[in-house]
Amino acid sequence: MPGLPPIPVNAWRWGVLASGRGSNAQALFRAIQSQTVPGHAINALATNNPQANVVDWANEVALPVAIMPNVNYETRQAQETAYINFFNEYGVNGVLLAGYTRIVSASFLSAFEGRVLNIHPSLLPRHGGVGMVGRAVHQSVLASGDKESGCTVHWVTDGVDEGPVLWQERVGVAADDTVETLAARVLAAEHRAFAQALRQLPIPH
Ligand code: GRF
Repeated sequence: MPGLPPIPVNAWRWGVLASGRGSNAQALFRAIQSQTVPGHAINALATNNPQANVVDWANEVALPVAIMPNVNYETRQAQETAYINFFNEYGVNGVLLAGYTRIVSASFLSAFEGRVLNIHPSLLPRHGGVGMVGRAVHQSVLASGDKESGCTVHWVTDGVDEGPVLWQERVGVAADDTVETLAARVLAAEHRAFAQALRQLPIPH
């Protein structure tokens, strides 16, 4: 594996929370590795899903990874404390939710001074909110008759999918789209979106 670019002293050092295939985390990692997102690094990844494909990938690229299954913690807060401790160990100063399946609490957000971003597969505020995940999002877009969809990178706040938008990329919805074809087009846009969103941020000190 080629070496990672050196991590600048004043940089965003992201911790990633992911629960599944992790294609967004991988796309951002590749963009950072190719030095097109200066001032940003992914320092560590945590997951609540021991079977997540993203774990194998993190091991392959030697990214520090922690597996913290929901059943190992009596409360969501106890699990989040474990994430916080793990991320602190790796100098994390911001968190990316990249296909993470649980809603994070206000105390988790404040542990990172609100520096928590999420990626969502629609043009928020359309097709967001509790239960709007995976296929349900694209089904909702198709049922609504919207002529365009896309993806959104937004700051995470107390309201599900309600935080300020940092970046959106639009894609067209075709008359003959299915959930699968629309999801694939949106995912291709998602794979550019975290990098584009991070380029909008000032570098912290
Ligand atoms: C993406 O569609 C993202 O927008 C949503 O969950 C999915 C995660 O995909 N929050 P992946 O695990 O990054 O491939």
